[in-house]
Amino acid sequence: MTAAIAGRYSRSMSYEVRRVREDDLPSWFECLTTAFLDRPDTALIASQIVPHWDLERVWGAFDGPTVGTFRTWASELTVPGGARLPASAVTAVTVRPTHRRRGILRAMVAAEHAASRERGETIAMLYAAEAPIYGRFGYGPAVTTCAWTLDATNTGFVGAPVTGIDFAPIDEGTRDLMRDLHERYRVGRPGEVRRRPFSFALDLGLMDFAWETKWKGWVAVHRDAAGEPDGYVRYGAESKWEEGQPRSSIKIQDLVALSDEAYDAFWRFLAETDLVATVSMERGALDDRLPWLLTNSRASAATGVGDSLWVNLLDVPGALAARTYERRGDLVLEVADPERGGRPARVRLDAGPDGVTCLATKRSPDLTLHAGALGAAYLGGTPLRHAVIARGFDEHRAGALAEADALLRTVEPPRCTTFF
Ligand SMILES: CC(C)(COP(=O)(O)OP(=O)(O)OC[C@H]1O[C@@H](n2cnc3c(N)ncnc32)[C@H](O)[C@@H]1OP(=O)(O)O)[C@@H](O)C(=O)NCCC(=O)NCCS
Repeated sequence: MTAAIAGRYSRSMSYEVRRVREDDLPSWFECLTTAFLDRPDTALIASQIVPHWDLERVWGAFDGPTVGTFRTWASELTVPGGARLPASAVTAVTVRPTHRRRGILRAMVAAEHAASRERGETIAMLYAAEAPIYGRFGYGPAVTTCAWTLDATNTGFVGAPVTGIDFAPIDEGTRDLMRDLHERYRVGRPGEVRRRPFSFALDLGLMDFAWETKWKGWVAVHRDAAGEPDGYVRYGAESKWEEGQPRSSIKIQDLVALSDEAYDAFWRFLAETDLVATVSMERGALDDRLPWLLTNSRASAATGVGDSLWVNLLDVPGALAARTYERRGDLVLEVADPERGGRPARVRLDAGPDGVTCLATKRSPDLTLHAGALGAAYLGGTPLRHAVIARGFDEHRAGALAEADALLRTVEPPRCTTFF
């Protein structure tokens, strides 16, 4: 399908939104890097990374040169209960500063959402550069994240000393092992997504990436009692001395653990490494075990608490029917379509621990809400009663919001360790 949308948001400008062609790419990258205020080597990006792209998923807005960029890649999202839904991962969203606030982003979103629905994708998902941008398009913050910092000089660890850890060489074999371990891990945790295969090569510095300096660091693998690998940690370090005292820090860049033993062992191993004063990790979760492993739990601190993955239910009944529910509830939801002109989706959600049906209905709604609020609450971690505040709701039956809130919540909050 070739979508071409003539945008006429402003009388002074018209532009076309369509999929990119190979010869658009230099100007497409110019727009992308200008809007992101950076000047990486775009020729290197084009030669190294573009071969991994599906150009059907790469959009541009054109007013002569490229004035807007928008790209997705095919992924999967693990939802409560373990189903993996086809998900479109949105990235590289920019509009040239000369053309901002004239509806170009809105036009690109409409084009790609239509294509995504045609491909049968249930979910669209992204990381938002700024919080106010995406709610209007039906996305809601579904995963909460935090950064952990451990003062390794100020605590001991409970439990047995570390066993089962060794370093892995930085090569294709380790890349494949990491990919396999991550695949096994992400299917078991709601909120986690399938990574692009080439991302593991990038992470290990086996491929050049113009946007960042080439990775240099270490990978350690943990093996279970039977000798089978059940986790890895990839990390970097900064060597530092103060007044003759070692104050070096370790930054965990990726920690994948299939067992609590592996998770615990990695933190202790890194914290007990000689010369290390601080170990930190981004993309953690507030319910991480770390503080509970320490003789002094306050040696660990969670900072930077905020949104990570934003979720948009492109197929509302399909998405609601695909996850599991820990409580019982039966209600009709009317979900306002955020893409202007669209009809609201009205579905009856009849769910409980023993199963779920969710089908379109003509019955009058119990609760009308915005798609972004439902996207936020969908993975079970964001309270629906909070998520509806931003764009409002209508409760047609008393108690319907509380019922929907309780129905969507899960004991285990979602987490997402993959940034894109
Ligand atoms: C964010 C960006 C893509 C928006 O593009 P745009 O073409 O100006 O957006 P649109 O004109 O289509 O805006 C659609 C709506 O979103 C609003 N909006 C867009 N960007 C916004 C922002 N950063 N903050 C608040 N509102 C924003 C617009 O005001 C408009 O509101 P409306 O629905 O009331 O009309 C563009 O400003 C940009 O490139 N920013 C720098 C790069 C970036 O942050 N990208 C996002 C990466 S996740």
